Amino acid sequence: MIKELLKRSEKLVRQIIYDSFSRLSVRSRKLSVLYYFLFDRSFDREIQAVLAGKIQHIDEAKKTKNNYFLLIRNTHRIEKGLLMKPRRDLFGKEYITETIDSFEAIWNLGKDDKANPQIKWFYDVLNEYFSTINLSHPVIATEEARFKRIINEMPSTAFKTQTAKSIPYHRAKQPVNNVNYAQFYDLCKQRRSVRWFLDKPVPRELIDNAILAANQAPSACNRQPFEFRIFDDPEMVKKVVQLPMGTSGYGHSIPVMIVLVGNLDAYFDERDRHVIYIDASLASMSFMLALESMDLSSCSINWPDIEARESKMHSFLNLKPYQRPIMCMGIGYPDPDGLIAYSEKRPLHQIRKYN
Ligand SMILES: Cc1cc2nc3c(=O)[nH]c(=O)nc-3n(C[C@H](O)[C@H](O)[C@H](O)COP(=O)(O)O)c2cc1C
Repeated sequence: MIKELLKRSEKLVRQIIYDSFSRLSVRSRKLSVLYYFLFDRSFDREIQAVLAGKIQHIDEAKKTKNNYFLLIRNTHRIEKGLLMKPRRDLFGKEYITETIDSFEAIWNLGKDDKANPQIKWFYDVLNEYFSTINLSHPVIATEEARFKRIINEMPSTAFKTQTAKSIPYHRAKQPVNNVNYAQFYDLCKQRRSVRWFLDKPVPRELIDNAILAANQAPSACNRQPFEFRIFDDPEMVKKVVQLPMGTSGYGHSIPVMIVLVGNLDAYFDERDRHVIYIDASLASMSFMLALESMDLSSCSINWPDIEARESKMHSFLNLKPYQRPIMCMGIGYPDPDGLIAYSEKRPLHQIRKYN
């Protein structure tokens, strides 16, 4: 009895200290850091993964010089330079050397990867850059000579002679698509989280189609720092369905599970640590709408930031230290007899403010 009383008072005292310290800590950044150091280590894994990503990125840029994310980002920066009005005579001198470093290494590593249209994009954009930029700057002149040497040593690939170039183009040349607002709004409304699916296999080709649509989503500097990990083997689906928390009661109905994984090695700086979540979410939305256009449905499933679950997911997916699960998704053919939550949305005036 006394033991129980002591235990309860100790718990109460702890709660009081905890409450007062958290209220005090919120007033200062340093105290907030101390609070999370002393009482709550939830952020530790994120910090470690961000650091692991940064180091991987820097090592690939400086040691092995084959940083694919860097090459994408810098190709994107060059394209932006090429489309500026007016176009500057000289730009890119700060990053052209690292760009050519990675271009050379990635070309050498992936020259047989004919299925990768990004290699053509790198090649075409760099070609355009060097044929229009002012070559009087010594850094640009040196890199142009290196680029020429690299491409001259390239075996003749089809894209070297293709007339259609993967470089900035005029919007007017694009065909106007014929989906009108009403049709698009209907598709958005049709997409609702479906939790009851038919016991019917989903053709991989349709999943790939949806991923191709997701692949068109915007991403910061075009880096697309994510991967779709797909499980359609029933035994594996059974396992992966258990990993997040939000599948209870209906998990057994899911025929295909997807885990979106973010790659933190896409960044050299902590300022971009949230971009994996933003970019993967934008791609997910296109993915879900594409599924709807093919009579398939989906349910987003939260990925809770809980250590025990994360370590299970890490070993299940064999993730690198700089990879983090972002969200899961159950997909399949919707069961016409299954109920769907109505999920009325917030009114316009609550979610928008002008100026
Ligand atoms: C990030 C995210 C996490 C979600 N997590 C779960 C989940 O764990 N379990 C679940 O049944 N639904 C989950 N949902 C689905 C939401 O409950 C659903 O999107 C919301 O209620 C609105 O309904 P609607 O999708 O039909 O418009 C999640 C949705 C999102 C975007």
